[in-house]
Amino acid sequence: MTRTTLRTAVSATIAVLVVFTGVALSPVPAAHASPLPIPPLLESSTNARGERVFDLRVQSGSRTFSGNTRTETLGYNGDYLGPTIRVRRGEDVRIRVRNTLPEPTTVHWHGAHLPAASDGGPHQRIPAGGSWEAPFTVDQPAATLWYHPHLMGTTAEQVYRGLAGLLIVDDDISESLAVPREYGRDDIPLLLQERRFSRGGSFEYRPSMPDLMHGYGGNALLTNGALEPYIVIRDERVRLRLLNGSNSTVLRMTLDDGGSFHQIATDGGFLERPLERRELVLSPGERAEIVVDFSFRDAGPVTLLAESTSGRRYRALELRPATTELQKSRPLPTRLATIPDLASSGVDRRRQFVMSTMGRGGRLTINGRTMDMNRIDEVVQLDTTEIWEVSSEGGGMGGMMGGMMDVPHNFHVHGLQFQVLRVNGRRPPPELRGWKDTVPLWPGDRIQIVLRFENYTGVFMYHCHFLEHEDEGMMGQFEVRR
Ligand code: C2O
Ligand code: CU
Ligand code: CU
Repeated sequence: MTRTTLRTAVSATIAVLVVFTGVALSPVPAAHASPLPIPPLLESSTNARGERVFDLRVQSGSRTFSGNTRTETLGYNGDYLGPTIRVRRGEDVRIRVRNTLPEPTTVHWHGAHLPAASDGGPHQRIPAGGSWEAPFTVDQPAATLWYHPHLMGTTAEQVYRGLAGLLIVDDDISESLAVPREYGRDDIPLLLQERRFSRGGSFEYRPSMPDLMHGYGGNALLTNGALEPYIVIRDERVRLRLLNGSNSTVLRMTLDDGGSFHQIATDGGFLERPLERRELVLSPGERAEIVVDFSFRDAGPVTLLAESTSGRRYRALELRPATTELQKSRPLPTRLATIPDLASSGVDRRRQFVMSTMGRGGRLTINGRTMDMNRIDEVVQLDTTEIWEVSSEGGGMGGMMGGMMDVPHNFHVHGLQFQVLRVNGRRPPPELRGWKDTVPLWPGDRIQIVLRFENYTGVFMYHCHFLEHEDEGMMGQFEVRR
């Protein structure tokens, strides 16, 4: 492994994890490179109330990913993953969901600012054969959000089997900036998921006890459901909307030519200005938008690599420039957005959240407790600003895995986008100075985030987005009250 850019604490932690959590798994049967599947844009209609109505159908199916063994899968309007839902700021939308599965599910709009009843968290259960509707007004900056199930205890399995899709928000800024934005051509969604394939080429969800602690890692990476796909590039600049949709795998993204790219957005929208980078780390649930510039590269292909926590290196996507001349792209703007400082108007309250794997029997807890649907952990006043200090306690010795429990976590909050104020006492690195809804926490980390609670009252979740941890109860509820 060449590590020329081993400078951040984040990469250093990954290197440590490589040593400790590497699992021996048989290699995935070689796949022939296939073109990158692009999730279709979901059609909508307008109802009498003027709402844009979208329909999702949760269904089961099967698919051959590799070799000739079929995998039993789940999908939205298809057999694996779901269509991209594209909405515009200011619009009233209503997403109707029909659950045709023989088991309950929910559909959560990860990163969206909306009423608690439309959030799709564990309380908005859709029974087997049942339906649910999520009406809301799109009221947040342009961003790459996503949707996935959120039922207590079965989130990890349902996501793993294929329930995930993108929710893209547009606004005046995203539609006027000189950034690539032709969906599927120079604006490409990449839903990245590590999966554990058997020798035969299929996968299923069967976690062991250590898997629940370390996360259900794998031996292959699916990009929009395909193994090591390629895309033919026809424009000088290409925007990639990256989502780490893995259950518990942290991915470190680089380009195989060692060159740089520009990050333009975080979870909740554009950064203030493009940030030149050579690597980018995404924990489960996090998104980043990057622009890869082919105008100064030679005509050869460039591969986007993803290195997993266990040290595996995947070819996430091969970008093959077309043999004809590339379409000119406008240079990236130097300024993308203005991000107001949430803390500047005063902070009303501070809270602490300690994520721990030290509990009895290796329990995964936040502030010493596991999730209880009937318990409100924090009551928050509407129209206030708070600072939440989130820390991750190392596991140390004892417990389930004895001495090997220094597992990473992350912290995700529903219903809003927050800002990172401090990381281990310091100003956050530039890639965390944008709107976020999920932040990674390495053992021993202490992160302060600023949150503004506006518009909606009701019950929302905060949790670790490593899905095995979430299902094990590393989650809590806050209620916003008037
Ligand atoms: Cu993407 Cu509560 O989750
Ligand atoms: Cu969420
Ligand atoms: Cu965790």
